Amino acid sequence: MMMKSLCLKVPKKLANEVIMKLKALGILRADLRIRRNEEYVYIPIKPSKELVSSLLKDYGEAVEITESLFTHIPKQLGFKDLLKGLVSDELLNRIPRSFDIVGKVALVQLPNDLPNDVARLVGEAIMKVANVKAVYARSPVLGDYRVRNLRLIAGGDIDETIYVEYGIKFYVLVKKVYINPSLSTEHRRIAELVHDGELVLDMFSGIGGFSLHIAKLHEATVFSIDINPYAIQCLIRSISMNKLKGKVIPICGDAKVVIKYFKGDLFDRVIMNNPTRALNFLEDSVKVTKLGASIHLYTIGSSVNDVIEDVEKVIKDKSLNIEVINVQRVLDYAPHQYIFRVDLRRS
Ligand SMILES: C[S@@+](CC[C@H](N)C(=O)[O-])C[C@H]1O[C@@H](n2cnc3c(N)ncnc32)[C@H](O)[C@@H]1O
Repeated sequence: MMMKSLCLKVPKKLANEVIMKLKALGILRADLRIRRNEEYVYIPIKPSKELVSSLLKDYGEAVEITESLFTHIPKQLGFKDLLKGLVSDELLNRIPRSFDIVGKVALVQLPNDLPNDVARLVGEAIMKVANVKAVYARSPVLGDYRVRNLRLIAGGDIDETIYVEYGIKFYVLVKKVYINPSLSTEHRRIAELVHDGELVLDMFSGIGGFSLHIAKLHEATVFSIDINPYAIQCLIRSISMNKLKGKVIPICGDAKVVIKYFKGDLFDRVIMNNPTRALNFLEDSVKVTKLGASIHLYTIGSSVNDVIEDVEKVIKDKSLNIEVINVQRVLDYAPHQYIFRVDLRRS
């Protein structure tokens, strides 16, 4: 069935970013199928003048508001619909609506006190709606390696899987490395800023989210450091599974120590994605950047002002030659706490 709807006509290369923003603003129409042609993507939206005009401000004339015909998507049952009648409403309300899919594995964050038999029902319901072979209840990220404890609640135990982001294959040891599919657009956004010929340092690369996106798009060289040997093992395997334009050089070690082996103003760009600790490494990264280089630092705070204050305090205390260019909220972290990206320029 076709339906007419208000929509945004967006050039292909901006589409993913705009879709994420529309989702976050709650004005993307999930009941209609997004339409694409060679040049443009047509994204159906709910009528919401104020929100749309605030969004359009960022894009000028590149994004147009118009009307078009879209195919209706029949409402699919979510895993929580399958639990109705099997689990009390009180428990059902405490189970999150969403879960992550990493290759053949689903990860869901459940309340700690959820009885085991209910967790098992949740796992079985997820297996009915998602094409996965295992469902794990996950803890928050823990320790230096930022890895989650996983408890199998449905399917068979799995150690390794292949996860795909923007066509890039990642080999993942699911219980041993940090993985967060919500970072996929952030990986892409940073990779799109890079130019051919750049020398990039990915200081806390994990399995190489930023590194592989960059090398996929550009003839750049990325040094990727991580202290978790399993993350570096995954990255080495992924490098051989993808056709890359650029080079990725994995290094296993503590970034504080490894960075001492890089002498002078080397890097055009440094990515510091270890939000709980990155600020402690800012002085080290500034020492190896060229004049005019970009540093993308991820950190936790409750507001943009809060974050700017934290970063500027470190800049002042350590007399660093860098300035804050931009601060962007990226992900939720805890109630009233968010992960922000702070873009800095070496001056
Ligand atoms: C949030 S995860 C990184 C995620 C990765 N950048 C991505 O986009 O998927 C933080 C990473 O920092 C690594 N790490 C923690 N302390 C480190 C250190 N001192 N030196 C290097 N890596 C470190 C952890 O092992 C973990 O993989």
